[in-house]
This record gives sequence, structure tokens and C-alpha cells, in this order.
Amino acid sequence: MAQPPSVPLHVQRLIPYSPGKPIEEVKRELGLTDVIKLASNENPLGPSPRALAAMQAAAAHVGLYPDGSCYSLVQALARHWDVPTEYLIAGNGSDEIIHFLGLAYLRPGDEVLSCEPTFVRYQSAAILNQAEYIAPPLRDFRYDLAAMAERLSPRTRMVFIANPNNPTGTIVAAAEMRRFLDLVPESAIVVVDEAYCEYATSPDYPQTWPYVREGRNVVVLRTFSKIYALAGLRVGYGIARPEIIAALHQVREPFNVSSLAQAAAMASLEDREQVERSRRTNREGLVQLTAGFARLGLRWVPSQANFILVDVGRPCVPVFQALLRRGVIVRTGDIFGLPTWLRVTVGTAAENERFLGALSAALADERIAATA
Ligand SMILES: Cc1ncc(COP(=O)(O)O)c(C=O)c1O
Repeated sequence: MAQPPSVPLHVQRLIPYSPGKPIEEVKRELGLTDVIKLASNENPLGPSPRALAAMQAAAAHVGLYPDGSCYSLVQALARHWDVPTEYLIAGNGSDEIIHFLGLAYLRPGDEVLSCEPTFVRYQSAAILNQAEYIAPPLRDFRYDLAAMAERLSPRTRMVFIANPNNPTGTIVAAAEMRRFLDLVPESAIVVVDEAYCEYATSPDYPQTWPYVREGRNVVVLRTFSKIYALAGLRVGYGIARPEIIAALHQVREPFNVSSLAQAAAMASLEDREQVERSRRTNREGLVQLTAGFARLGLRWVPSQANFILVDVGRPCVPVFQALLRRGVIVRTGDIFGLPTWLRVTVGTAAENERFLGALSAALADERIAATA
């Protein structure tokens, strides 16, 4: 039998994305019937009924390829943002736009700058394109822009800032963002990933479109996976100066966003009420969760997103497993270098209550010893 061709070293270095455990898998493995997932920062309220109706109507036409240019969706986004259409590109999730950015702009030897822990796909884009990934640690769970500024160099080609950051839920404030952008050389693109921006309530949260309008090399990423609750459809978009958008189109597959995704995304944009309800549910959920953590004597990182980090004060994996046995899926912090922390997505009030009850029981379980 022939040997398989060898896999290039940089491809071997790629870290496979580790998703939250699927509900069906947990049911199967643990013989449970009632399982909730608070692990992947999805919207517990689900999509807008308008999106579901739009998808149903579009389903009749799935025999045809989708519109590769996402013409109608881009028009709708242009109206929504009040920007010209040349500033917009849609992707198969915002994840795909991160991939396009890497393909279009990174060369071996370039540097990609971010902070750790953050969304793992930034590092993947660097590795895949043989660029060097440089990421100083967060400071107090927040992006350390001063440390990042010290690492800027003539080789810096791309800077990724998740705002709010995943997994911490913290934000970069408007003033520090502006100061930092002024330090970045023109040869670098700054990607501000705003996957969770709709949940941010802080008055310091920056508006980034003006940076694009000023002609800076800034790319803003948005997604329909989070507040719009269309994660299963895979649709996101990028906003940037037309030259950057044109380069991203160069590396785009011809039909990268499905017709159902395009239809649902457009309909979602019109349902402001769904967004408002989701925001409200999230705000109330954060209050509920943090009150529960306080009762349990746990510390947490104040969050501007739809998830929250909580320190369980002992190795997180046994606590995660104890929660799984009680039918609650969350994420362990060890994958983010936070071995005593859990990241939990804000659910409905009932889901949050169930999680808090399960957490309380898991922590009371004497088999899980506290480290403190
Ligand atoms: C910070 C951040 N950016 C981007 C994404 C990817 O979102 P999408 O579903 O649009 O690919 C995620 C998903 O969890 C995320 O946490």
C-alpha cells in the first residue's frame, strides 16, 4: 500500500477547534434525556420567527445555487449600517472572514498580534499561513493593548481584537482603542471581532465603523450566530474599506453563504424586537448568575457578553463532569489556560437556575476537593 503524502509541518501545528459538547452526544454517553447546553454562547431564545419563515420560503429554491455575491443581503446590511455596499462582505460565519483575511494578507514570516486567551481562530489563521502568532497575556482578564503596542513591528501584518473578548467577556474601551489604533503602522490590518457586541451595555464600548470610514485599515467582524441565533446556518460579515473587501472576494469560494442563510439573515435584521428581547434576557441572566455565584462564594469576571467566567476554586474538569452528569454542558477554562474556571453561556432564567443548582450540588460533592 502506498504511503500517504506527508502533511506540512505548519498544518500539523494547527490546533483542531474544540467545540462545546453536543447535547445528543451527552444524552447518548450518559444515558440522560434532559440536557441543556450553556457551552457555545448561543442565544437560548432561538431565531426570529421572521427568519424561520424566510428560510421556509427559500427552501423551495434550494435546487439552485445561492447568489454568490449575497447581493440582497449586502444591500440589506448596507441599509442597516448606512454604508456603501462595497464596504461589506458576507461569510459562512464570521469565522470564514477570519480565514479569508489570513489567505488574502498573510505571508510566511509575517506577524499576527493578539492577546491570550482569546478566540482560537486568530492563531489558526496565523499558523495556516505560516505567520508568527504573538500574543501577550491578558491583564486582569482584559486585552493588554499597552503590551500589544510594545510588540508592534514592521512585520506586524494583522492584529486581532475580540471585543467583547471570548472567553472573558471583557471589552476594550473606546479611548484605549483609539490610542492603540494610532500606534499601528499602516502596513497592518486591525481586525475588531464584534461577534458579541450587541450584548455590550457599557457606555465605553467603542463604535468602530467610524474608523473604517476614516480610511483606516480596520476590519469589523459581525455575526448572525449570536444575538440573531442563526449559529447553525453559518453567516457573518465583515466591514472594511473597499480595497480590503475586494481582496477578500479574491479568495472567497464562489457560493460561500447558503441561500437559506442569506434569507434568514436578511429577515433577522428586520426583527429589532428579537434583538431587544435577547439583550434583556441576557442582562437579566447575568444578574441572576452573578447573584448565584455570590451566594456560592465564587468570584467571576464581570461580563459584557452572553457568557461569563466563574472561578470554581478547584480544578474545573471534575466540576464540568459533575455538571454533565446533571445534564448541564458548560466549557472548562483549562483550554484557555484558566484551570479553575468555567465559562458558562447565559441561558433562559430556567436554564440559569438549573445550572446554579447543579453547580451548587457539584461543589458540595466531597469528591471534588477545593484547592483553596
Ligand atoms: C469572538 C468570536 N468571533 C467569531 C466567532 C465565530 O462566529 P461565527 O459563528 O460567525 O463563525 C465566535 C464564535 O464563537 C467568537 O467567539
